[in-house]
Formats: sequence, structure tokens, C-alpha cells
Amino acid sequence: MGYSQVYDAWKQDPEKFWMDAAQGIDWVTPPSKALFDERAPLYEWFKDGQVNACYNAVDRHVENGRGEQTALIYDSPITHTKREISYVELRNRVANLAGALRAKGVEKGDRVVIYMPMIPEAIEAMLACARLGAVHSVVFGGFASNELAVRIDDAKPKAIIAASCGLEPGRVVHYKPLLDGAIDLATHKPDFCVIFQREQEVAELVEGRDFNWHGFQYGVEPAECVPVSGDHPAYILYTSGTTGAPKGVIRSTGGHLVALNWSMKNVYNVDPGAVFWAASDVGWVVGHSYICYGPLIHGNTSIVFEGKPIGTPDAGTFWRVISEHNVKSFFTAPTAFRAVKREDPNGDFVKKYDMSSLKAVYLAGERADPDTIVWAQEKLNVPVIDHWWQTETGWAIAANPLGIEELPVKLGSPSVALPGYQVEALDEGGHPLPAGELGAIAIKLPLPPGTLPNLWNAEERFVKSYLSHFPGYYETGDAGYIDEDGYVYIMARTDDVINVAGHRLSTGAMEEVLASHPDVAECAVIGPKDSLKGQVPLGFVCLNAGLERPHDEIKAEIVKLVREKIGPVAAFKLVLVVDRLPKTRSGKILRGTMVKIADGEDFKAPATIDDPAILDEIREALGEIGFPSAA
Ligand code: COA
Ligand code: AMP
Repeated sequence: MGYSQVYDAWKQDPEKFWMDAAQGIDWVTPPSKALFDERAPLYEWFKDGQVNACYNAVDRHVENGRGEQTALIYDSPITHTKREISYVELRNRVANLAGALRAKGVEKGDRVVIYMPMIPEAIEAMLACARLGAVHSVVFGGFASNELAVRIDDAKPKAIIAASCGLEPGRVVHYKPLLDGAIDLATHKPDFCVIFQREQEVAELVEGRDFNWHGFQYGVEPAECVPVSGDHPAYILYTSGTTGAPKGVIRSTGGHLVALNWSMKNVYNVDPGAVFWAASDVGWVVGHSYICYGPLIHGNTSIVFEGKPIGTPDAGTFWRVISEHNVKSFFTAPTAFRAVKREDPNGDFVKKYDMSSLKAVYLAGERADPDTIVWAQEKLNVPVIDHWWQTETGWAIAANPLGIEELPVKLGSPSVALPGYQVEALDEGGHPLPAGELGAIAIKLPLPPGTLPNLWNAEERFVKSYLSHFPGYYETGDAGYIDEDGYVYIMARTDDVINVAGHRLSTGAMEEVLASHPDVAECAVIGPKDSLKGQVPLGFVCLNAGLERPHDEIKAEIVKLVREKIGPVAAFKLVLVVDRLPKTRSGKILRGTMVKIADGEDFKAPATIDDPAILDEIREALGEIGFPSAA
């Protein structure tokens, strides 16, 4: 069956489609049906089934003869370490860790925050929670104490599992002091912490609260897999929204297992046993779905890569890993390829490696620009597939589903809607637009299995953020259009979220930090284009009247404050001091117009602008720091 037939089969009988897909999962009690819509527009999938995610990701492969197959390959050019963990070893390690967590009181439904770098122990910690039915919430290592504290207060974890440190090129990330700082800041205190001590830095433990990862497992009974219902939260993953308060995306267990298992063959075209590599981080949704759960549920070998596309040690790292470990399907962000292309435009490093194992490359996390796709196609000589999804959906909304049919690639488009998703471009009134017309991209409800059923502790916010604007639809927050062949084009966000090096960030959150500086009277943060990172954050500040301090000093303090409050991942380095911000007469800051000036695009000042002369001041200030750049 080709793509059209598969998509039509879903559309005609979604219940049958997903019940068939559910057969790829080992249930303790199979679900009686797929969709539960009693609370529409809130939906659940496979709610009355009983299942365990860790069993499906690990134990069942041992029982089915894959015990000796490598489950995880840890490849760390930063620490010069390589290690393989078989499925049977992974089962034993995870069962022991889960047993130790249980002995300290972690039970089904308890939350556990995980704050770890790209080491296999991070995956083991996630799976140990899943084994117990505990709900993990992984926090990306590039976030500072304050962001970690916000997540601790929202998730209220019984335990926190962390590493002593992370390693960035040329810099040790001191996780433990960051964790201690977060616990001090948070109102909620965990019962205990488990610290994985790395060779590169041994952290000081707090007596009675912190336990050594190894020591606390000693002499404890390994834990068995605890069955949970299909709608039991597998995890909470916080993501940036419009305000400073991150949104806790919930992933229900049943749908998550079914959808990820389905996607491994149909989207990524790998069979069990093949090596799959997503070069992302466990702190992001890509890491959850395609470093940890997806490949393991499907019986693949997954790579845990602790390194960067360039500089660890060079722009050939990706190709070395692919050739050394026989990677069949490779997933990364366009920004990583842009970084490699900048260092090695002719692809000389590619020629040094035998890349014959590689059959396809997948890009996501931000819009894949045609130049990057063409460069990768030429240098790697395999299909380069842009696909579009979000933390909220957990797996691709639109893709070129190579495992079903290789559709023609249209540069600039992540191709077509996958089964489960009816994607439409809507006008402001919520009416579907004709092909080619730009609008808000929305998905007809219900969303498929594996997508978010709700936000943690925030149902009202969930309904308001995603379901209210266009009744009957999920609002993606992306704008774009759909062409006459059904290809989706994602062009921009409709909210204040920006995408910096494939990392989703909130300009609203940064504005809150800027506004907290005592010398700042007013501020705005925008995300103009950047040739490497896609977008970069750029702050404008108006200072309090009568200040005599040098502006450079204040700017440096502001940059430091964002790093301290949000973290290095914000990559916030640019601040401009201006006298006034452009506004409408009702006081709304014209951020969109400022972005257009920074990007050098044509624009028309809105009729409601208060004082058009301010736009010239903004243009002049931007010119001083090189905007519009060639990006
Ligand atoms: N822990 C702590 N700090 C981190 C971190 C982590 N896990 N990840 C990044 N940071 C820090 C970096 O060290 C850097 O700090 P610095 O300001 O001291 O230099 C800062 O956050 C910004 O990092 P980044 O945006 O990654 O920029 P970079 O200049 O270090 O590297 C790229 C540029 C393009 C090579 C890099 O962004 C990259 O590999 N991008 C791919 C992203 C990706 O795979 N995203 C997954 C989405 S699918
Ligand atoms: P995240 O939740 O971090 O995965 O970010 C999701 C957002 O990243 C989407 O809403 C889009 O704005 C953007 N995005 C992700 N993948 C793509 C893609 N392939 N093309 C265009 N934008 C994308």
C-alpha cells in the first residue's frame, strides 16, 4: 500500500487503524477500544488497556531472543569513551535501579525529575521510572537552577536523579551545584536525590538527602514491571510557551507506545535490529521519543552521543559515528548540518568514512532551509527528509514516510500529513483556506495516539492555549500553508516562541528576566534570523531616566542575568539600549515590525503606530550591531 492508501485507511476507520497498530505492543490487558472521547474535546487512547513501557522497551526483547543485541551505544568524543549495553544488561541495570528507587518509596504515579547529560544512565533512569509506573520529567542540562526550580515546583517530584556534571566543549557543567541551588529556590523539596558521580567531577553529597547512584542500589531487590493503564502519564516534559511559566506536556503511556512503535518502520523505515541514531539530547522531545523510547520499543539499537556536530573533535564526527556503528537512519536538526557545512562546505570529511550503512537522514526541530537539504543530499547521497512535529505531539505530524512510500521531496516542505493527523491552514475565523494560502496551521481533533492529552496541573491552560481559538481543532502555534498536493509548509510561529539552534525558547520568558534588572524600565525580545542558529534572541531595553552608568556595564549584567535565570541554552548575547520602543497607540509593542527591520524585509508600519519615527531609531540601533545581516 502506498501513502494515499494508508492515509485513507486511517481516515475511513481510525479505530481499526490504531487497534491494528496496538498489536505491535505487548499488553498485560489489551485495550477494548482505541479512542475514549467521553470528555471531548479532551481525548484519551487505549485507556482501559494495562501495559508497561519499560517492559515493551526492554524486557520483551530479552524474552524474544534479542538479549544479546546491543540496545544502547554510548559514544562520547568529549570523554573519549565508547561503550555498548546489551538488552539483557539494560534490563538488569534498569531493574536494579528501579528496585532501589522503590526501596526508597518511589511508587506508581510519583514524579521523578531527571537532570542528566547525554550518558546511558539518563536513559536507564527514565526506564527505571517507567518500570515502576513513576512519572519522569527530564530537565535539559542547559537550563539554570531557576528553570529547574520552576519545574520542581510544578511536578513536585518525590526524587531527583542527577549526574555530578555535564561536559560541554572546554567547560564542565556543574550539575550538582545547579541542582542544590534549584532545591533551595523551590518551595517543594524532594524526599531524596540520587547522584551519578562522573569521573570528571565528583560532587559533594548532602548527608541524608543525596545518595550515590551505585551505593544506593547495593543489596536491593530488582523491581518487576508494574502494569499501568493506557492513560497513565509516562512522563511530563516542560516546553516553552508564551509566558515565563513552561508548559508541562503530559504523555500517556498507551498511545505513546503504539505511535512510536508504528513510526519506527513507517516513518524512519528501520526494522528491528537496525541501528538508529537521533543526535539530540534526552532533555528534548526528540531525545524522549527517538533516543530512548521509539528505537528501544521497536527492538533497534540506539546511540547515546555526547558530543557536538563540530569541535568534538571536528566536522567529521557525525560521519565517524555513522560508519563506525553502522547507522541506518540518522536524525538531527538542520542547525547541526549548517554548523558542519560551514566548517566543511565541500564535505571532505564525508569522503574519509564508509557511509554505506546510511539509508536516510531526517531533519526536524526547526524549518529545514533548502540550501541545507541540498547540501546534505549532495554530500551524503541518501534521501534527506524534513519532518515537522512538536513537543506536544511527541512524533511527526508531517513527514515523507519512507517506510510506506518515498514521495517526491519538495524543498521547504516537511511533506504530507501522517495518518492520525488532518492538517489544515485556517483563516482567522477558523475556516479552512484554499491551497497555497497562508494561515494558522491547525489539526482536526482528536489528535492521534502519542500526542498530549493535557498539560500537567493546567487543564484550563491546555484548553485555552490549544483548543479554544479554533473550536474542533488543535492550534499548533505554527503558521504556513498547504499546497495542492497536500504538502505542508511551516513558515513561522504565531506566538512569542523562537527557535534557536533547534531549541525552543520563549521570548516572553526572556523579557521577564530583562524587566527584572533594576535599571530597565521597558524591554522587548525578538528573534531575528541567524545563518547558523536559525534565529537568535535580541533584546531591546529602555533604561530608567537619569542613569549615569555606562551602558556596556548594564548590557553585560543583563546578558549574565539571562544566563543565570534561564541558562546558557538561551544563547542570549545581544542587547541594544534604545530611548523608546515602537508601539501601537494602545501600547502594544510592535515586535513583528522590529523583526522585519532586523531581517531587512519590506514592511508597512501598522496604521495604529504611535510614532513612526521610532522605527528609524530602531533601524539605526540595529545597524550598529550589523543587522540586517546576510542571514
Ligand atoms: N548543558 C549545558 N550547557 C549547554 C548544553 C547542555 N546540555 N547544551 C548547550 N549548552 C550551552 C553551550 O555550551 C553554549 O554555552 P556558551 O554560551 O557557554 O558557549 C550555549 O548553551 C548555547 O549552546 P548552543 O545553542 O548549542 O550553541 P553552540 O554555539 O554551543 O553550538 C551548534 C552551535 C549548532 C553546534 C549546536 O547548537 C548544535 O549542536 N545544535 C543542534 C541542536 C540539536 O540537536 N537540537 C535538538 C533538537 S532536535
Ligand atoms: P519543539 O517543541 O521544541 O520540538 O519545537 C516545535 C516547533 O519547532 C514547531 O512548532 C515549529 O515551530 C518548529 N519546527 C519543528 N520542526 C519543524 C520543521 N520540520 N519545519 C518547520 N518548523 C519546525
